[in-house]
Amino acid sequence: MRITGTGHASLRIDTDAGSILCDPWVNPAYFASWFPFPDNSLLDWETLGDCDYLYVSHLHRDHFDAEHLKRFVSKKATVLLPEFPTSEMRDELEALGFTRFLETKSDHVHELDGGLKIMIQALTSPTDGPIGDSSLWVEHNGVRILNQNDARPTDLTTYAELGHVHAHLLQFSGAIWYPMVYDLPQAAKTAFGKQKRDRQFDRTFRYIDDLKASHVVPIAGPPCFLDDELWQFNDIFGDEGNIFPDQWVFQQEYAKHGGTNSTVLLPGSVMTVTPDSVSTVHPVDVEEFFAHKREHLEEMRDRKRPIIEAAKASWRHPEVDVLKEMKRRIEPLLDESVYLAKGVGGPVRFDLVGYDGTSVESIVVDFPGKQVRQYADEKVRYRFRTERALIEHLLFIEEVDWVNSLFLSCRFTATRIGQYNEFVYSFFKCLSEERLQYAEGWFAEQKPDAEDIKLGDWIVQRRCPHLKADLTRFGIVDGNTLTCQLHGWKFDLPSGRCLTSVGHELRSRAAGASAPASAPAPASGDGAAAELS
Ligand code: FES
Repeated sequence: MRITGTGHASLRIDTDAGSILCDPWVNPAYFASWFPFPDNSLLDWETLGDCDYLYVSHLHRDHFDAEHLKRFVSKKATVLLPEFPTSEMRDELEALGFTRFLETKSDHVHELDGGLKIMIQALTSPTDGPIGDSSLWVEHNGVRILNQNDARPTDLTTYAELGHVHAHLLQFSGAIWYPMVYDLPQAAKTAFGKQKRDRQFDRTFRYIDDLKASHVVPIAGPPCFLDDELWQFNDIFGDEGNIFPDQWVFQQEYAKHGGTNSTVLLPGSVMTVTPDSVSTVHPVDVEEFFAHKREHLEEMRDRKRPIIEAAKASWRHPEVDVLKEMKRRIEPLLDESVYLAKGVGGPVRFDLVGYDGTSVESIVVDFPGKQVRQYADEKVRYRFRTERALIEHLLFIEEVDWVNSLFLSCRFTATRIGQYNEFVYSFFKCLSEERLQYAEGWFAEQKPDAEDIKLGDWIVQRRCPHLKADLTRFGIVDGNTLTCQLHGWKFDLPSGRCLTSVGHELRSRAAGASAPASAPAPASGDGAAAELS
Protein backbone atom coordinates (compact mmCIF):
# COMPACT_ATOMS: atom_id res chain seq x y z
CA MET A 1 0.00 0.00 0.00
CA ARG A 2 1.29 3.48 -0.87
CA ILE A 3 0.36 6.67 0.97
CA THR A 4 1.16 9.95 -0.74
CA GLY A 5 1.13 13.02 1.48
CA THR A 6 -0.85 15.76 -0.24
CA GLY A 7 -0.88 18.36 2.54
CA HIS A 8 -2.68 18.95 5.85
CA ALA A 9 -5.17 16.06 6.31
CA SER A 10 -5.06 15.19 2.66
CA LEU A 11 -3.57 11.96 1.32
CA ARG A 12 -3.87 9.57 -1.50
CA ILE A 13 -3.88 5.86 -0.75
CA ASP A 14 -2.90 3.58 -3.64
CA THR A 15 -3.41 -0.18 -3.70
CA ASP A 16 -3.59 -2.77 -6.46
CA ALA A 17 -7.35 -2.70 -5.97
CA GLY A 18 -7.78 1.04 -6.41
CA SER A 19 -6.90 4.46 -5.08
CA ILE A 20 -8.60 6.61 -2.45
CA LEU A 21 -8.12 10.37 -2.34
CA CYS A 22 -8.80 11.76 1.13
CA ASP A 23 -9.72 15.32 2.12
CA PRO A 24 -7.99 17.24 -0.69
CA TRP A 25 -7.68 20.84 0.55
CA VAL A 26 -5.76 23.54 -1.33
CA ASN A 27 -7.74 26.81 -1.38
CA PRO A 28 -7.72 29.05 1.69
CA ALA A 29 -10.49 28.38 4.18
CA TYR A 30 -12.45 30.39 6.75
CA PHE A 31 -12.38 33.89 5.30
CA ALA A 32 -8.96 33.29 3.73
CA SER A 33 -7.39 32.71 7.15
CA TRP A 34 -6.13 29.16 6.88
CA PHE A 35 -3.78 27.85 4.21
CA PRO A 36 -2.27 24.36 4.05
CA PHE A 37 1.35 24.25 5.18
CA PRO A 38 3.63 23.09 3.66
CA ASP A 39 2.14 24.49 0.47
CA ASN A 40 0.47 21.82 -1.65
CA SER A 41 -0.88 23.99 -4.46
CA LEU A 42 1.95 23.05 -6.84
CA LEU A 43 1.32 19.29 -6.73
CA ASP A 44 0.11 17.56 -9.87
CA TRP A 45 -3.56 17.63 -8.88
CA GLU A 46 -4.77 16.51 -12.31
CA THR A 47 -3.09 13.17 -11.68
CA LEU A 48 -3.85 12.98 -7.96
CA GLY A 49 -7.51 13.74 -8.61
CA ASP A 50 -7.81 10.89 -11.08
CA CYS A 51 -8.77 8.43 -8.35
CA ASP A 52 -11.17 5.51 -7.91
CA TYR A 53 -12.61 6.62 -4.58
CA LEU A 54 -13.03 9.92 -2.80
CA TYR A 55 -13.28 10.16 0.97
CA VAL A 56 -14.17 13.45 2.65
CA SER A 57 -14.08 13.02 6.40
CA HIS A 58 -16.39 15.93 7.19
CA LEU A 59 -17.52 19.33 6.00
CA HIS A 60 -14.99 21.56 7.70
CA ARG A 61 -13.53 23.72 4.96
CA ASP A 62 -9.98 22.52 5.51
CA HIS A 63 -11.24 19.03 4.56
CA PHE A 64 -14.00 19.85 2.11
CA ASP A 65 -12.66 22.23 -0.54
CA ALA A 66 -15.56 22.61 -2.97
CA GLU A 67 -13.62 24.60 -5.57
CA HIS A 68 -10.81 22.07 -5.66
CA LEU A 69 -13.12 19.04 -5.72
CA LYS A 70 -15.04 20.55 -8.58
CA ARG A 71 -12.00 21.34 -10.67
CA PHE A 72 -9.60 18.48 -10.02
CA VAL A 73 -11.30 15.36 -8.71
CA SER A 74 -12.66 12.84 -11.20
CA LYS A 75 -16.45 12.71 -11.17
CA LYS A 76 -16.14 9.02 -11.95
CA ALA A 77 -14.77 8.49 -8.45
CA THR A 78 -17.06 6.68 -6.04
CA VAL A 79 -17.58 8.74 -2.91
CA LEU A 80 -17.17 6.79 0.32
CA LEU A 81 -19.78 8.56 2.42
CA PRO A 82 -19.68 8.53 6.22
CA GLU A 83 -23.00 7.75 7.88
CA PHE A 84 -23.89 11.27 8.99
CA PRO A 85 -27.26 12.28 10.41
CA THR A 86 -27.97 14.88 7.75
CA SER A 87 -27.67 14.63 3.98
CA GLU A 88 -25.57 17.78 3.66
CA MET A 89 -22.35 16.11 2.51
CA ARG A 90 -24.05 14.10 -0.20
CA ASP A 91 -26.04 17.14 -1.31
CA GLU A 92 -22.92 19.29 -1.54
CA LEU A 93 -20.99 16.64 -3.48
CA GLU A 94 -23.88 16.04 -5.86
CA ALA A 95 -23.98 19.77 -6.50
CA LEU A 96 -20.31 19.54 -7.51
CA GLY A 97 -21.05 16.80 -10.03
CA PHE A 98 -20.35 13.57 -8.16
CA THR A 99 -22.86 10.84 -8.97
CA ARG A 100 -21.46 7.63 -7.49
CA PHE A 101 -21.84 7.13 -3.77
CA LEU A 102 -21.26 4.29 -1.36
CA GLU A 103 -23.31 5.10 1.72
CA THR A 104 -21.26 3.35 4.37
CA LYS A 105 -22.56 2.08 7.66
CA SER A 106 -20.60 3.31 10.63
CA ASP A 107 -18.27 0.72 12.20
CA HIS A 108 -19.08 -1.77 9.45
CA VAL A 109 -16.37 -3.21 7.17
CA HIS A 110 -17.27 -2.81 3.50
CA GLU A 111 -15.52 -4.98 0.92
CA LEU A 112 -14.90 -3.20 -2.38
CA ASP A 113 -13.68 -4.58 -5.71
CA GLY A 114 -10.35 -6.39 -5.68
CA GLY A 115 -10.49 -7.25 -1.99
CA LEU A 116 -10.05 -3.67 -0.79
CA LYS A 117 -11.74 -3.29 2.58
CA ILE A 118 -12.75 -0.04 4.23
CA MET A 119 -14.52 0.99 7.38
CA ILE A 120 -15.64 4.51 8.22
CA GLN A 121 -16.52 5.38 11.78
CA ALA A 122 -18.84 8.38 11.90
CA LEU A 123 -19.00 10.55 15.00
CA THR A 124 -22.32 12.32 15.14
CA SER A 125 -22.59 14.47 18.24
CA PRO A 126 -23.46 18.10 17.45
CA THR A 127 -20.04 19.01 18.83
CA ASP A 128 -18.15 16.71 16.42
CA GLY A 129 -17.07 18.84 13.51
CA PRO A 130 -19.90 20.54 11.66
CA ILE A 131 -22.45 17.94 12.78
CA GLY A 132 -20.22 14.97 12.18
CA ASP A 133 -16.61 13.93 11.79
CA SER A 134 -15.17 10.57 10.77
CA SER A 135 -12.13 8.30 10.38
CA LEU A 136 -11.24 5.85 7.61
CA TRP A 137 -9.75 2.40 8.12
CA VAL A 138 -8.36 0.60 5.06
CA GLU A 139 -7.10 -2.96 4.57
CA HIS A 140 -5.55 -4.55 1.53
CA ASN A 141 -3.20 -7.52 1.15
CA GLY A 142 -2.66 -7.80 4.89
CA VAL A 143 -1.77 -4.10 5.35
CA ARG A 144 -4.05 -2.00 7.56
CA ILE A 145 -4.01 1.73 8.02
CA LEU A 146 -6.14 4.07 10.10
CA ASN A 147 -6.63 7.63 8.87
CA GLN A 148 -8.04 8.92 12.15
CA ASN A 149 -7.77 12.44 10.81
CA ASP A 150 -8.93 15.01 13.37
CA ALA A 151 -11.74 12.81 14.72
CA ARG A 152 -11.81 12.12 18.43
CA PRO A 153 -13.45 8.77 19.05
CA THR A 154 -13.83 7.86 22.70
CA ASP A 155 -11.59 4.86 22.08
CA LEU A 156 -10.00 2.92 19.22
CA THR A 157 -11.17 -0.54 20.21
CA THR A 158 -13.26 -1.01 17.09
CA TYR A 159 -10.16 -0.64 14.92
CA ALA A 160 -7.85 -2.64 17.18
CA GLU A 161 -10.25 -5.58 17.01
CA LEU A 162 -9.83 -5.75 13.22
CA GLY A 163 -6.16 -6.66 13.54
CA HIS A 164 -2.82 -4.95 13.96
CA VAL A 165 -2.65 -1.54 12.27
CA HIS A 166 0.51 -0.75 10.32
CA ALA A 167 0.15 3.02 9.91
CA HIS A 168 -1.86 5.33 12.16
CA LEU A 169 -2.38 8.86 10.82
CA LEU A 170 -3.78 11.37 13.28
CA GLN A 171 -4.01 14.98 14.36
CA PHE A 172 -1.68 16.37 17.00
CA SER A 173 -1.93 20.17 16.68
CA GLY A 174 -4.52 22.85 17.36
CA ALA A 175 -7.44 23.75 15.12
CA ILE A 176 -9.42 26.31 17.09
CA TRP A 177 -9.51 29.96 18.14
CA TYR A 178 -8.83 29.40 21.84
CA PRO A 179 -7.22 31.12 23.66
CA MET A 180 -5.84 33.57 21.09
CA VAL A 181 -9.00 35.55 20.40
CA TYR A 182 -10.00 36.04 24.02
CA ASP A 183 -9.44 39.39 25.71
CA LEU A 184 -7.00 38.19 28.33
CA PRO A 185 -3.72 39.50 29.72
CA GLN A 186 -0.85 38.14 27.64
CA ALA A 187 0.49 36.07 30.54
CA ALA A 188 -2.87 34.30 30.95
CA LYS A 189 -3.13 33.69 27.22
CA THR A 190 0.32 32.12 27.21
CA ALA A 191 -0.51 29.94 30.22
CA PHE A 192 -3.82 28.73 28.71
CA GLY A 193 -2.18 28.20 25.34
CA LYS A 194 0.59 26.15 26.88
CA GLN A 195 -1.93 24.00 28.73
CA LYS A 196 -3.77 23.44 25.49
CA ARG A 197 -0.62 22.65 23.54
CA ASP A 198 0.41 20.08 26.17
CA ARG A 199 -3.08 18.56 26.21
CA GLN A 200 -3.08 18.15 22.43
CA PHE A 201 0.15 16.18 22.63
CA ASP A 202 -1.11 14.12 25.60
CA ARG A 203 -4.27 13.20 23.76
CA THR A 204 -2.34 12.19 20.65
CA PHE A 205 0.07 10.04 22.68
CA ARG A 206 -2.91 8.42 24.37
CA TYR A 207 -4.42 7.43 21.04
CA ILE A 208 -1.05 6.17 19.79
CA ASP A 209 -0.53 4.12 22.95
CA ASP A 210 -4.03 2.67 22.59
CA LEU A 211 -3.69 1.50 18.99
CA LYS A 212 -0.01 0.51 19.04
CA ALA A 213 0.34 0.74 15.29
CA SER A 214 3.70 -0.05 13.71
CA HIS A 215 4.05 3.51 12.41
CA VAL A 216 2.58 6.89 13.26
CA VAL A 217 2.05 9.81 10.91
CA PRO A 218 1.14 13.26 12.28
CA ILE A 219 -1.37 14.89 9.93
CA ALA A 220 -4.34 17.29 9.80
CA GLY A 221 -2.55 20.44 10.72
CA PRO A 222 -1.50 22.87 11.68
CA PRO A 223 -2.66 25.38 9.07
CA CYS A 224 -0.65 28.50 8.40
CA PHE A 225 -1.90 32.09 8.58
CA LEU A 226 -0.70 34.29 5.74
CA ASP A 227 -2.75 37.43 6.24
CA ASP A 228 -0.71 40.11 8.05
CA GLU A 229 -3.57 40.46 10.56
CA LEU A 230 -3.19 36.80 11.59
CA TRP A 231 0.54 36.24 11.01
CA GLN A 232 1.21 36.10 14.78
CA PHE A 233 -0.66 32.78 15.03
CA ASN A 234 2.12 30.93 13.19
CA ASP A 235 4.37 28.97 15.54
CA ILE A 236 7.59 30.74 14.56
CA PHE A 237 8.09 33.11 17.47
CA GLY A 238 9.21 30.68 20.18
CA ASP A 239 5.92 31.19 22.03
CA GLU A 240 5.28 28.21 24.31
CA GLY A 241 1.59 29.20 24.39
CA ASN A 242 1.15 28.78 20.62
CA ILE A 243 -1.39 26.02 19.96
CA PHE A 244 -0.18 25.29 16.40
CA PRO A 245 3.03 23.24 16.76
CA ASP A 246 4.06 21.66 13.45
CA GLN A 247 4.82 18.07 12.48
CA TRP A 248 8.52 18.46 13.17
CA VAL A 249 7.86 19.75 16.69
CA PHE A 250 5.51 16.81 17.21
CA GLN A 251 8.25 14.44 16.20
CA GLN A 252 10.57 15.90 18.85
CA GLU A 253 7.87 15.79 21.57
CA TYR A 254 7.02 12.24 20.61
CA ALA A 255 10.68 11.26 20.92
CA LYS A 256 10.69 12.67 24.49
CA HIS A 257 7.69 10.42 25.13
CA GLY A 258 9.75 7.47 23.86
CA GLY A 259 8.26 7.40 20.37
CA THR A 260 10.63 6.34 17.60
CA ASN A 261 8.19 5.19 14.92
CA SER A 262 6.80 8.42 13.44
CA THR A 263 7.17 9.75 9.91
CA VAL A 264 6.40 13.27 8.74
CA LEU A 265 4.84 13.45 5.28
CA LEU A 266 5.44 16.55 3.19
CA PRO A 267 3.22 17.20 0.18
CA GLY A 268 4.65 14.78 -2.36
CA SER A 269 6.22 12.37 0.17
CA VAL A 270 5.43 8.77 -0.69
CA MET A 271 5.31 6.14 2.03
CA THR A 272 5.23 2.46 1.15
CA VAL A 273 3.69 0.28 3.84
CA THR A 274 4.02 -3.49 3.98
CA PRO A 275 3.13 -5.82 6.87
CA ASP A 276 6.78 -5.72 7.97
CA SER A 277 8.17 -2.38 6.92
CA VAL A 278 7.67 1.22 6.01
CA SER A 279 9.86 3.24 3.68
CA THR A 280 9.35 6.85 2.67
CA VAL A 281 10.70 8.98 -0.14
CA HIS A 282 10.47 12.75 0.35
CA PRO A 283 10.60 15.52 -2.26
CA VAL A 284 13.11 17.47 -0.10
CA ASP A 285 14.94 16.86 3.16
CA VAL A 286 12.30 17.15 5.91
CA GLU A 287 14.53 18.43 8.70
CA GLU A 288 16.06 21.01 6.39
CA PHE A 289 12.60 22.10 5.29
CA PHE A 290 11.37 22.78 8.82
CA ALA A 291 14.67 24.45 9.75
CA HIS A 292 13.68 27.12 7.20
CA LYS A 293 10.02 27.29 8.12
CA ARG A 294 9.90 31.08 8.52
CA GLU A 295 11.40 31.65 5.07
CA HIS A 296 8.92 29.21 3.52
CA LEU A 297 6.05 31.01 5.21
CA GLU A 298 7.28 34.43 4.11
CA GLU A 299 7.62 33.24 0.54
CA MET A 300 4.09 31.80 0.66
CA ARG A 301 2.75 35.01 2.20
CA ASP A 302 4.09 37.07 -0.68
CA ARG A 303 2.82 34.63 -3.28
CA LYS A 304 -0.68 34.28 -1.79
CA ARG A 305 -1.28 37.94 -0.94
CA PRO A 306 -3.34 38.63 -4.10
CA ILE A 307 -5.64 35.71 -3.20
CA ILE A 308 -6.25 37.16 0.26
CA GLU A 309 -6.86 40.65 -1.10
CA ALA A 310 -9.34 39.34 -3.68
CA ALA A 311 -11.20 37.40 -0.99
CA LYS A 312 -11.40 40.44 1.28
CA ALA A 313 -12.85 42.52 -1.54
CA SER A 314 -15.73 40.04 -1.87
CA TRP A 315 -17.01 40.21 1.71
CA ARG A 316 -18.70 43.60 1.77
CA HIS A 317 -22.44 43.69 1.09
CA PRO A 318 -23.58 47.14 2.20
CA GLU A 319 -27.08 46.40 0.95
CA VAL A 320 -27.55 43.80 3.73
CA ASP A 321 -29.44 45.15 6.74
CA VAL A 322 -27.61 43.07 9.34
CA LEU A 323 -30.06 43.44 12.23
CA LYS A 324 -33.07 42.73 10.05
CA GLU A 325 -31.42 39.72 8.42
CA MET A 326 -30.19 38.29 11.71
CA LYS A 327 -33.73 38.61 13.08
CA ARG A 328 -35.16 36.88 10.04
CA ARG A 329 -32.65 34.04 10.14
CA ILE A 330 -32.14 33.49 13.84
CA GLU A 331 -35.39 34.30 15.64
CA PRO A 332 -37.36 31.31 14.24
CA LEU A 333 -34.52 29.05 15.41
CA LEU A 334 -34.47 30.62 18.86
CA ASP A 335 -38.20 29.92 19.07
CA GLU A 336 -37.65 26.23 18.33
CA SER A 337 -34.59 25.77 20.49
CA VAL A 338 -35.07 24.25 23.93
CA TYR A 339 -31.79 22.60 24.92
CA LEU A 340 -29.35 24.87 23.14
CA ALA A 341 -31.11 28.10 24.14
CA LYS A 342 -31.37 26.93 27.74
CA GLY A 343 -27.73 25.87 27.66
CA VAL A 344 -26.59 29.31 26.47
CA GLY A 345 -28.83 30.84 29.11
CA GLY A 346 -28.15 34.53 28.46
CA PRO A 347 -27.71 37.20 25.80
CA VAL A 348 -24.80 37.02 23.36
CA ARG A 349 -23.55 40.31 21.94
CA PHE A 350 -22.00 40.96 18.54
CA ASP A 351 -20.07 44.21 18.15
CA LEU A 352 -19.75 44.86 14.44
CA VAL A 353 -16.98 47.17 13.34
CA GLY A 354 -17.89 49.19 10.25
CA TYR A 355 -15.86 49.61 7.07
CA ASP A 356 -14.16 52.71 8.51
CA GLY A 357 -12.66 50.57 11.28
CA THR A 358 -14.15 52.64 14.09
CA SER A 359 -17.97 52.80 14.07
CA VAL A 360 -19.57 49.94 15.95
CA GLU A 361 -23.07 48.52 15.87
CA SER A 362 -24.02 46.23 18.76
CA ILE A 363 -26.54 43.47 18.20
CA VAL A 364 -27.70 41.00 20.82
CA VAL A 365 -28.95 37.47 20.30
CA ASP A 366 -31.14 37.19 23.36
CA PHE A 367 -31.52 33.48 24.06
CA PRO A 368 -33.88 33.73 27.07
CA GLY A 369 -35.95 36.46 25.38
CA LYS A 370 -35.90 34.57 22.04
CA GLN A 371 -35.17 37.62 19.97
CA VAL A 372 -32.43 39.44 18.07
CA ARG A 373 -32.28 43.15 18.84
CA GLN A 374 -30.07 46.15 19.40
CA TYR A 375 -27.88 45.90 22.47
CA ALA A 376 -29.63 47.48 25.47
CA ASP A 377 -26.77 48.22 27.86
CA GLU A 378 -27.16 44.90 29.63
CA LYS A 379 -24.78 42.27 31.00
CA VAL A 380 -24.05 39.60 28.42
CA ARG A 381 -22.60 36.13 28.73
CA TYR A 382 -20.49 36.32 25.58
CA ARG A 383 -19.34 39.27 23.56
CA PHE A 384 -17.86 38.90 20.09
CA ARG A 385 -16.25 41.72 18.16
CA THR A 386 -15.72 41.33 14.43
CA GLU A 387 -15.91 43.18 11.14
CA ARG A 388 -19.41 43.99 9.98
CA ALA A 389 -18.40 42.88 6.47
CA LEU A 390 -17.89 39.31 7.68
CA ILE A 391 -21.40 39.10 9.12
CA GLU A 392 -22.81 40.71 5.97
CA HIS A 393 -21.11 38.01 3.94
CA LEU A 394 -22.41 35.18 6.15
CA LEU A 395 -25.94 36.52 5.79
CA PHE A 396 -25.50 37.12 2.07
CA ILE A 397 -24.43 33.52 1.38
CA GLU A 398 -26.98 32.16 3.90
CA GLU A 399 -24.23 30.38 5.84
CA VAL A 400 -25.73 27.84 8.25
CA ASP A 401 -22.52 27.24 10.18
CA TRP A 402 -20.77 30.26 11.69
CA VAL A 403 -18.21 28.00 13.35
CA ASN A 404 -17.17 26.61 9.97
CA SER A 405 -16.67 30.15 8.69
CA LEU A 406 -16.43 33.04 11.16
CA PHE A 407 -15.17 31.41 14.34
CA LEU A 408 -12.53 29.19 12.74
CA SER A 409 -11.30 32.23 10.82
CA CYS A 410 -10.02 33.68 14.12
CA ARG A 411 -11.02 37.06 12.68
CA PHE A 412 -12.76 38.12 15.88
CA THR A 413 -12.11 38.80 19.53
CA ALA A 414 -14.19 37.48 22.40
CA THR A 415 -14.95 38.23 26.02
CA ARG A 416 -17.03 36.06 28.27
CA ILE A 417 -18.35 36.09 31.79
CA GLY A 418 -17.77 32.79 33.58
CA GLN A 419 -16.93 29.48 32.02
CA TYR A 420 -16.72 28.35 28.44
CA ASN A 421 -20.20 27.65 27.12
CA GLU A 422 -20.22 24.99 24.46
CA PHE A 423 -23.86 25.66 23.62
CA VAL A 424 -23.04 29.10 22.23
CA TYR A 425 -20.89 27.58 19.51
CA SER A 426 -23.21 24.61 19.00
CA PHE A 427 -26.10 27.00 18.33
CA PHE A 428 -24.15 29.07 15.81
CA LYS A 429 -23.24 25.96 13.84
CA CYS A 430 -26.92 25.01 13.62
CA LEU A 431 -28.44 27.93 11.74
CA SER A 432 -30.71 25.75 9.66
CA GLU A 433 -33.87 23.90 10.51
CA GLU A 434 -32.28 20.53 9.73
CA ARG A 435 -29.22 21.08 11.88
CA LEU A 436 -31.08 22.64 14.78
CA GLN A 437 -33.62 19.85 14.92
CA TYR A 438 -30.87 17.26 14.86
CA ALA A 439 -28.91 18.94 17.66
CA GLU A 440 -32.01 19.42 19.81
CA GLY A 441 -32.97 15.78 19.31
CA TRP A 442 -29.47 14.60 20.13
CA PHE A 443 -29.42 16.48 23.42
CA ALA A 444 -32.93 15.28 24.28
CA GLU A 445 -31.90 11.64 23.83
CA GLN A 446 -28.83 11.65 26.03
CA LYS A 447 -29.14 8.86 28.55
CA PRO A 448 -27.69 8.97 32.04
CA ASP A 449 -24.49 7.05 32.63
CA ALA A 450 -25.00 4.73 35.59
CA GLU A 451 -21.63 2.95 35.87
CA ASP A 452 -19.05 4.10 38.43
CA ILE A 453 -15.28 3.50 38.50
CA LYS A 454 -12.50 4.13 41.01
CA LEU A 455 -9.88 6.67 40.00
CA GLY A 456 -7.23 7.32 42.65
CA ASP A 457 -9.10 8.04 45.87
CA TRP A 458 -12.36 8.83 44.10
CA ILE A 459 -15.40 7.04 42.79
CA VAL A 460 -16.65 8.73 39.62
CA GLN A 461 -19.01 7.94 36.79
CA ARG A 462 -17.25 5.97 34.08
CA ARG A 463 -18.12 8.16 31.12
CA CYS A 464 -17.05 11.79 30.87
CA PRO A 465 -20.01 14.18 31.13
CA HIS A 466 -18.71 16.03 28.09
CA LEU A 467 -18.72 13.54 25.22
CA LYS A 468 -18.64 10.25 27.09
CA ALA A 469 -14.93 9.40 26.92
CA ASP A 470 -14.12 6.36 29.01
CA LEU A 471 -12.50 7.84 32.11
CA THR A 472 -10.68 4.59 32.89
CA ARG A 473 -8.56 5.54 29.86
CA PHE A 474 -8.76 9.31 29.63
CA GLY A 475 -9.27 10.35 33.27
CA ILE A 476 -6.31 11.69 35.28
CA VAL A 477 -6.75 12.65 38.92
CA ASP A 478 -4.50 15.29 40.42
CA GLY A 479 -5.50 16.20 43.99
CA ASN A 480 -9.13 17.24 43.89
CA THR A 481 -9.25 17.71 40.13
CA LEU A 482 -10.07 15.20 37.45
CA THR A 483 -8.94 15.97 33.89
CA CYS A 484 -10.42 14.11 30.95
CA GLN A 485 -7.63 14.05 28.41
CA LEU A 486 -9.87 13.67 25.39
CA HIS A 487 -10.63 17.40 25.26
CA GLY A 488 -8.93 18.46 28.48
CA TRP A 489 -12.06 19.29 30.47
CA LYS A 490 -11.57 19.54 34.23
CA PHE A 491 -13.90 18.62 37.09
CA ASP A 492 -13.80 19.47 40.80
CA LEU A 493 -14.08 16.08 42.49
CA PRO A 494 -15.54 17.11 45.88
CA SER A 495 -18.43 18.99 44.24
CA GLY A 496 -18.58 17.31 40.83
CA ARG A 497 -18.63 20.77 39.24
CA CYS A 498 -17.26 21.08 35.74
CA LEU A 499 -14.48 23.67 35.80
CA THR A 500 -14.32 24.04 32.03
CA SER A 501 -17.86 24.67 30.90
CA VAL A 502 -21.32 25.43 32.17
CA GLY A 503 -23.32 22.35 33.27
CA HIS A 504 -21.78 18.91 32.62
CA GLU A 505 -21.72 17.93 36.28
CA LEU A 506 -19.73 14.81 37.22
CA ARG A 507 -21.03 12.22 39.70
CA SER A 508 -18.20 11.77 42.18
CA ARG A 509 -17.48 10.93 45.80
CA ALA A 510 -14.47 10.09 47.94
CA ALA A 511 -13.70 6.36 47.77
CA GLY A 512 -14.28 5.95 51.53
CA ALA A 513 -17.69 7.64 51.48
CA SER A 514 -20.80 5.55 51.00
CA ALA A 515 -22.94 6.08 47.93
CA PRO A 516 -26.03 8.22 48.46
CA ALA A 517 -29.12 6.10 49.30
CA SER A 518 -30.88 7.26 46.22
CA ALA A 519 -28.36 8.26 43.64
CA PRO A 520 -28.67 11.82 42.40
CA ALA A 521 -29.78 12.22 38.84
CA PRO A 522 -26.64 11.08 37.04
CA ALA A 523 -24.91 13.72 35.03
CA SER A 524 -25.96 13.53 31.46
CA GLY A 525 -23.77 14.05 28.44
CA ASP A 526 -24.84 17.66 28.16
CA GLY A 527 -25.17 20.59 30.45
CA ALA A 528 -28.48 21.65 28.99
CA ALA A 529 -30.27 18.58 30.29
CA ALA A 530 -28.70 19.09 33.71
CA GLU A 531 -29.83 22.71 33.78
CA LEU A 532 -33.32 21.75 32.76
CA SER A 533 -33.79 19.08 35.42
S1 FES B 1 -15.11 13.67 26.40
FE1 FES B 1 -14.49 15.71 26.07
S2 FES B 1 -13.37 16.20 27.85
FE2 FES B 1 -14.09 14.21 28.21
